[in-house]
Amino acid sequence: MARIVAGVATSHVPAIGAAIDNKRTHEPYWEPVFKGYEPSKRWIAELKPDVVILVYNDHASAFSLELIPTFALGCAAEFPPADEGWGPRPVPTVKGHPELAWHLAQSLILDEFDITIVNRMAVDHGLTVPMSLMFGEPDAWPVNVVPLAVNVVQFPPPTGNRCYNLGKAIRKGVESFGQDLTVVIFGTGGMSHQLQGPRAGLINRAFDQRFLDGLTSDPLGLTRLPHVEYLREAGSEGVEMVMWLIMRGALDDQVEEVHRFYHVPASNTAVGHIILQNTPAVPA
Ligand code: DHB
Ligand code: FE
Repeated sequence: MARIVAGVATSHVPAIGAAIDNKRTHEPYWEPVFKGYEPSKRWIAELKPDVVILVYNDHASAFSLELIPTFALGCAAEFPPADEGWGPRPVPTVKGHPELAWHLAQSLILDEFDITIVNRMAVDHGLTVPMSLMFGEPDAWPVNVVPLAVNVVQFPPPTGNRCYNLGKAIRKGVESFGQDLTVVIFGTGGMSHQLQGPRAGLINRAFDQRFLDGLTSDPLGLTRLPHVEYLREAGSEGVEMVMWLIMRGALDDQVEEVHRFYHVPASNTAVGHIILQNTPAVPA
């Protein structure tokens, strides 16, 4: 059977991608950011997952106000990097896992999560920056990816509770897939940030720390946060953090915290990152 063994949450700040692509990672501004991901790169290189289910949001690259799916599952064989205004990032094309993705679509929809099936989708910084942070700059990504795009840019986004329960349904879907696959689920976006309006540049370290603590040890507490609290405490784009709860819902109730990193600022955003691992199954 396929099995989700761990979850990774990380911010997906586009300037991080630009720093990598423009060879600026060793500059004093950027060095501490990338240092925080060194243990993560080693951890995932050792784990060698077969598939990443990558929960992220599209930032008006693949979708626009013409079409706003709440949950869109990428079932294609490949997903090209999106042109976000400066040409596509020079990163490899993302290879999908259509068999697992279609199985998940069926499992989720029959489980009453009516997700949208997407067969053609370019993927923006929301997906490619976490890939670069975790896997570096390979010629080809060393893992297949099932993208799950979540609407958090146009009100109303899904609730944290709905996201957490979707994570549980994803886990059920993965565990009912016939092939033996090691799967890691990523939740991306956050942490506190607001990109526009009078509160642009808002960062709330105390909220971010509480969220990271809660993610490890009290995810149910986090599922009760209403949207307005994300907005008030973590800024208008801080609501991206509901996506971290999809990742958390797909894990065991009790998890081991493998790594945590928090850094301010990158662009005008707080960068947060955590790796949570399920207790390994005892071999039969
Ligand atoms: C920025 C954009 C994002 O999508 C995000 O999640 C964080 C920061 C930015 O433009 O700086
Ligand atoms: Fe974003």
